[in-house]
Amino acid sequence: MSPLIDLTTKISSLKLKNPTILASGIMDEDVGSMKRIAGSGAGAIVTKSIGLKPREGYPNPTIVELECGVLNAMGLPSPGIKEYGEEIKNFKKIKVPLIGSIFGSNSKEFVELGRKMQEYGTDALELNMSCPHARGYGLEIGSDPVLVKKITYDVKQSVDIPVFVKLSSNVSDLKDIARAVEKGGADGVVAINTVKAMKINLELKKPVLANKIGGYSGKAIKPIGVRCVYEIAETVDIPVIGVGGITTGEDALEYIMAGASAVQIGTGIYYRDLDVFRKICGEIEGWMKKHGVKRLSDLVGVAHI
Ligand SMILES: Cc1cc2nc3c(=O)[nH]c(=O)nc-3n(C[C@H](O)[C@H](O)[C@H](O)COP(=O)(O)O)c2cc1C
Repeated sequence: MSPLIDLTTKISSLKLKNPTILASGIMDEDVGSMKRIAGSGAGAIVTKSIGLKPREGYPNPTIVELECGVLNAMGLPSPGIKEYGEEIKNFKKIKVPLIGSIFGSNSKEFVELGRKMQEYGTDALELNMSCPHARGYGLEIGSDPVLVKKITYDVKQSVDIPVFVKLSSNVSDLKDIARAVEKGGADGVVAINTVKAMKINLELKKPVLANKIGGYSGKAIKPIGVRCVYEIAETVDIPVIGVGGITTGEDALEYIMAGASAVQIGTGIYYRDLDVFRKICGEIEGWMKKHGVKRLSDLVGVAHI
């Protein structure tokens, strides 16, 4: 990295050496792959979303590549919070911030999970209020501003580490939900999760996924994510983390100009390999050099007129 270009960023009290973060659910269920991602240049890592009890998730097929991205309905498979503690203990030797992602069906569950993650030593929490295909969890909670505010508030009262709330584009009034997150006292908003979608197999005349409906990620959803980040940044004063379809430095810069202080990358790993983080940082740096920008933070939100 060039000493003349400053890629560091801050989200609440969390300091990142660069703005790229591993998104929840992709190669982050075990410490081995998370270590590899940390070694591939990521500025921070988000864990797979973890619930209270072990969950198998949905039967196969759970994932399929489509024209412009990937469709999945994993059904939030998770080892359960007790079991996951062992993974996190082993992660602590890595000098990259770890953000514990959690999902629950009510405030009590989120609080219990948040406390456990903090006890295990995670540097921040990400509340998954946006998974589009898990009944009773995720988006079913994240589309109700009253619930969003209450859960955020209750978790904030129970932990000392920063709390981020991950939202979905599949809501009728995203600004209303973002306001609820801010009123609940969150330290940041993450947008977006996968977008509700489906694929039909013409020969079988049936949906491809066992769960029928899933969440779309990758290139196709980037314009949706950029729009959401732009709207959220206009609505609240807390930092925004952008996610959805980021595969290149230019993609990341679009999110940053829309108002994101950092970006997460998930499906991009599938298309550009594990070192996508290093590649994206190099491309951001190249763009900044070419345009005479020294500090990445100077670009956050510049697209707002
Ligand atoms: C296979 C798969 C599993 C995912 N699991 C989770 C999850 O457990 N929790 C969560 O908040 N998001 C989950 N996501 C959503 C991603 O974190 C991200 O928000 C979404 O994929 C959009 O980013 P991308 O286009 O860079 O992949 C998952 C996505 C994929 C593709």
